[in-house]
Amino acid sequence: MAKTGWFETVAEAQRRAAKRLPKSVYSALVAGSERGISADDNTAAFAELGFAPHVAGLSAKRDTSTTVMGQAISLPVFISPTGVQAVHPDGEVAVARAAAARGTAMSLSSFASKPVEDVAAANPQTFFQMYWTGSRDKLVARMERARAAGAVGLIVTSDWSFSNGRDWGSPSIPERMDLRAMIRFAPEGIARPRWLLDFAKTGRVPDLTAPNLSQDGGPAPTFFGAYGEWMQTPLPTWDDIAWLREQWGGPFMLKGVMRVDDARRAVDSGVTAISVSNHGGNNLDGTPAPIRALPAIVDAVGGEVEVVLDGGIRRGSDVVKALALGARAVMLGRAYLWGLAAGGQTGVENVLDIMRGGIDSALLGLGHSSVHDLSPADLIIPSGFRRDLGMSD
Ligand SMILES: Cc1cc2nc3c(=O)[nH]c(=O)nc-3n(C[C@H](O)[C@H](O)[C@H](O)COP(=O)(O)O)c2cc1C
Repeated sequence: MAKTGWFETVAEAQRRAAKRLPKSVYSALVAGSERGISADDNTAAFAELGFAPHVAGLSAKRDTSTTVMGQAISLPVFISPTGVQAVHPDGEVAVARAAAARGTAMSLSSFASKPVEDVAAANPQTFFQMYWTGSRDKLVARMERARAAGAVGLIVTSDWSFSNGRDWGSPSIPERMDLRAMIRFAPEGIARPRWLLDFAKTGRVPDLTAPNLSQDGGPAPTFFGAYGEWMQTPLPTWDDIAWLREQWGGPFMLKGVMRVDDARRAVDSGVTAISVSNHGGNNLDGTPAPIRALPAIVDAVGGEVEVVLDGGIRRGSDVVKALALGARAVMLGRAYLWGLAAGGQTGVENVLDIMRGGIDSALLGLGHSSVHDLSPADLIIPSGFRRDLGMSD
């Protein structure tokens, strides 16, 4: 057993993260926006779905493997990109290692704290995620850097609407971890000695920079400096998405699709995959849970592109529900971040093991031998559950 100890559910990982992390870092992971309607619905919607299990004639062996964006993965769960800093000194490298150890793919945010070269070296199944920020030349340079590092797919996230208020208060995060900031945040750090010790052992303080957004080998911009440039960048059109997809040439995902009309436009832009997602409820509050929007999108474009889902996945049975409604795989956000905070690489592996165990139990109960056999008939779906968005044109 690792020194941090095994945990049995994602809820326990979250409790440990809350105990271990300074308040401002923990609240940056919880995130959510405005009233938190979307963030709450993301998990509540899974609880509305039930199962219709069998009692005998069950399958002794269950296969959880699949493929996504050309990558063979051992379970239909992979890492969603999160631009978040200071959770653990090994950050996204630990996450990438854990995903590799469990046979699945990693997605790295361009706002992440570790360089793509280190992350792709830790997991050869790394997808690089970009926002539409900076000029076309800068976008291409960033993308080519990721390709040279070994990234095997590109994810473009374009659902961000710069919503930043939260009724429960936003964390106060310094621009840079300089002496002034360290003194200001010292009480938080002292209250969380194990977190402080983890960083102290590396001889570094969290540097709060975005190394994947540096230009021409220059210094990494600060997280907020990079955010400022993004806010000033003209917003992408569908032609821009198609252009970037052309530039990349390989497997390409558009993340954040919630409507059937947008899913169709994404197909027209030549994408390989879409993620039905509301950015973990961190975006336009009042957007329903992606699991509600999934069935209509699968009906419309499921035969043409790979449809994955992210938002609200906390257990293996959530994964099975998403697959039964037509997702090819799901991506994890907060669940692995809490695992990372609770136990570094081991904690992320623990979360992936929880997912695998839960998927296997649900498959057993439902009488299936493979994740590919799941269908809506396995579920109890209350009337009015679906939200068919953007069906009119
Ligand atoms: C702290 C935090 C930071 C995030 N940063 C990014 C990001 O940089 N790029 C991105 O595409 N999505 C980002 N997301 C969204 C996640 O990729 C994912 O869509 C979401 O977390 C899924 O919901 P879940 O947390 O309920 O699993 C972030 C989410 C969180 C919680």
